[in-house]
Amino acid sequence: MMPKLNIPLKLYSEGKVSFYSTDLDYLGELGLAYTKAPVFYNPKMKLNRDVTISLFASLSLKTAADLMAASGVRALRLAAEGNAQEVLANDSSCLSVHIIKMNARLNGLSNIKASCSDARLMAEKLSWEGYRMEYVDLDPFGSPAPYIDSFLRAVKRGGVIGITATDTPPLFGLYPDKLFRFYGVWGKKFFFHKEFGIRTLIYFVVKTAARFDLAARPILSYGREHYVRTFFQLERGASASSDLLKNNIGWIEYLDGDFSVIRGKDLPVRKKGVVGPVWISSISDIDLIRRIRPINEETSNLLAALVREAGGPPLYYLLDDICSAMRTRVPKIDDVILKLRELGYFACRTHLEPLGIKTNASRKELENVVRELTAS
Ligand SMILES: C[S@@+](CC[C@H](N)C(=O)[O-])C[C@H]1O[C@@H](n2cnc3c(N)ncnc32)[C@H](O)[C@@H]1O
Repeated sequence: MMPKLNIPLKLYSEGKVSFYSTDLDYLGELGLAYTKAPVFYNPKMKLNRDVTISLFASLSLKTAADLMAASGVRALRLAAEGNAQEVLANDSSCLSVHIIKMNARLNGLSNIKASCSDARLMAEKLSWEGYRMEYVDLDPFGSPAPYIDSFLRAVKRGGVIGITATDTPPLFGLYPDKLFRFYGVWGKKFFFHKEFGIRTLIYFVVKTAARFDLAARPILSYGREHYVRTFFQLERGASASSDLLKNNIGWIEYLDGDFSVIRGKDLPVRKKGVVGPVWISSISDIDLIRRIRPINEETSNLLAALVREAGGPPLYYLLDDICSAMRTRVPKIDDVILKLRELGYFACRTHLEPLGIKTNASRKELENVVRELTAS
């Protein structure tokens, strides 16, 4: 039998709240990863929560549920910083729920309701009892795919769901079988894999929502370190849902290091190099993002990058990959972007890769620019 570990709690602070969670330093000293914490807290997900709070407050949403709340930090911050009137913090770990209650008291937040249940049961219960929330957060260990059905039901029509996926290996095409099993998308790993993963997640959510006659419009998407994140606004309507699918789903054709987008839900003649289906329109809504008041500089920088990118075409090229294939030095990325713009193309960086370029120029045209800039 495994010996029972007595792992102490530690007082943390994030944003405007203080809260207890597993002492991660102590856990480290025992040689255990943060994922093994009896009460989970990942400080690296602060930006994930900062963006959530910024969006929630800016859209003046009032009710929220984090159905996998762990220490409750997100729920606490939604109440303390997002001005939520009512927050439900649920977790399947009753130890976590005990800590959530303690943390709510510590911060004087009486509008946090804590419950210990399976997240899917709780989501279905909210829907069944007519108690849907204006904002629902889905933040599981690994893939959100098994939870999306029930979580969509818990969102009030007109409300928002924020989805985090940390199963980046399948989403990024490293495990094509799992990518197809979980998301119904054919793919493999390409140089544009991070955006491909975001577009896969969006496709899957839009398709799942369509089964309930719900239109799930992606309003803000990004990727960072080990996760991708998308927020969707949900509207009821069979035709809105059909139109969303018909007009924004497509395929990616990959050939000789270049790619092109095939619009349309119908499967093109299945040939080598065609992957999908994925979401092929903008992954963020520029007008909506402009309405968001970021709560700090890091969030502000991320939102500014997303607005820049949202006007561009899908996916990106990697400058270092191209230069390595051309056996040439890597020119300054800003010079390449400037040159492409001078030639009349759309060009900007992507927040997903330090040397990624989003452009409607072809790979050949990009190579010509690199050749010119590295000639001297
Ligand atoms: C990644 S953590 C959530 C982190 C939290 N949302 C935050 O922002 O700090 C995942 C949590 O989900 C809980 N969990 C796992 N499976 C669950 C299930 N089926 N129902 C409810 N909670 C679950 C775990 O106990 C863990 O606390």
